Amino acid sequence: DDARLIDTFGRVATDLRISLTDRCNLRCSYCMPAEGLDWMPRDEQLTDDELMRLIGIAVRDLGIEELRFTGGEPMLRKGLEGLVSASAALEPRPDISLTTNGIGLARRAESLAAAGVNRLNVSMDTLRADRFATITRRDRLSDVLDGLVAARQAGLGPVKINTVLLRGMNDDEACDLLRFAVEGGYELRFIEQMPLDAQHGWERTEMITAGEILDKLQAEFTLTPDAVARGGAPAERWIVDGGPAAVGVIASVTRPFCGACDRTRLTADGQVRSCLFARTETDLRAMVRGGCSDAEIADTWRHAMWGKLAGHGIDDPGFLQPDRPMSAIGG
Ligand code: GTP
Ligand code: 5AD
Ligand code: SF4
Repeated sequence: DDARLIDTFGRVATDLRISLTDRCNLRCSYCMPAEGLDWMPRDEQLTDDELMRLIGIAVRDLGIEELRFTGGEPMLRKGLEGLVSASAALEPRPDISLTTNGIGLARRAESLAAAGVNRLNVSMDTLRADRFATITRRDRLSDVLDGLVAARQAGLGPVKINTVLLRGMNDDEACDLLRFAVEGGYELRFIEQMPLDAQHGWERTEMITAGEILDKLQAEFTLTPDAVARGGAPAERWIVDGGPAAVGVIASVTRPFCGACDRTRLTADGQVRSCLFARTETDLRAMVRGGCSDAEIADTWRHAMWGKLAGHGIDDPGFLQPDRPMSAIGG
């Protein structure tokens, strides 16, 4: 019997994505309302010790090779560096990455690198300060730009930039953003918008598709499909103008990649999710707080992943988006 996290379709989860908090210091309009959400009460969140116990089980007993800390905004979690360095001390040492909005990153890039973060992805949807303020409802573009530079200087690379294009808002910036990334030495990825917003306002016709994005880029750049095997990565990559720069498109909706999915997820309140779009969760916090053994917790985690569905089902009739919004699941 396999100790790893396998499902009935033969996929193996080796990538654990951990939401450290559901809070965020931006209010992106396609993610949450201006007033924010009802944040998770502190006592419902795993403590650092509880979380490190689960991460240890995942790495030692379940074959997890990569950890990604997300949120909400993971830098809002006190003790992030401590969680990173404790994770980096595990054997075998996992690859450690962070997905952040970049606010405050300029001050923390060095300490994050020193703690053991290997790679960093920064969200940035526009290069124009006025649009940034409209989309995120906070006037903080310069913070993000400073954070990108600091991350690169700290060696947290290759630093990636995640961009969601919104129709009529920033969809005319695809080429400007790619030029910025090529010149700065960042890897830009465009993400198709998914039905995971707290307001349940996603509409397929409003989403900018991978096809549209590639058409826009090809008007100004020569894109060659990347020869490197994609594996479980959500991004399809193209080499830009002969390289070395590359650009990615994460086409979750129009070109789903669920068949190669290698992910398992843990929410800030200790629930395992087998998929971003899972409609059920498995409560590991109750097991941790109830005195269960490592072996019992590992078995329950395996059982949770065994039930992973084939795909997100966005195109199925009767599709329902998960009750938890993206900001509480982690990207
Ligand atoms: P690396 O390629 O390892 O750097 O990471 P990544 O692209 O998986 O991580 P990141 O957190 O930057 O994710 C970028 C975006 O991809 C997320 O915001 C999601 O929109 C999307 N994404 C990440 N994981 C999944 C997934 O399992 N399923 C789907 N459909 N989309 C995902
Ligand atoms: N669909 C796709 N991407 C999303 N993000 C937030 N909400 C959505 C959504 N509904 C992106 C953010 C950030 C990353 C973590 O996820 O813009 O880049
Ligand atoms: Fe994996 Fe679910 Fe994302 Fe598909 S939607 S790639 S199955 S997490």
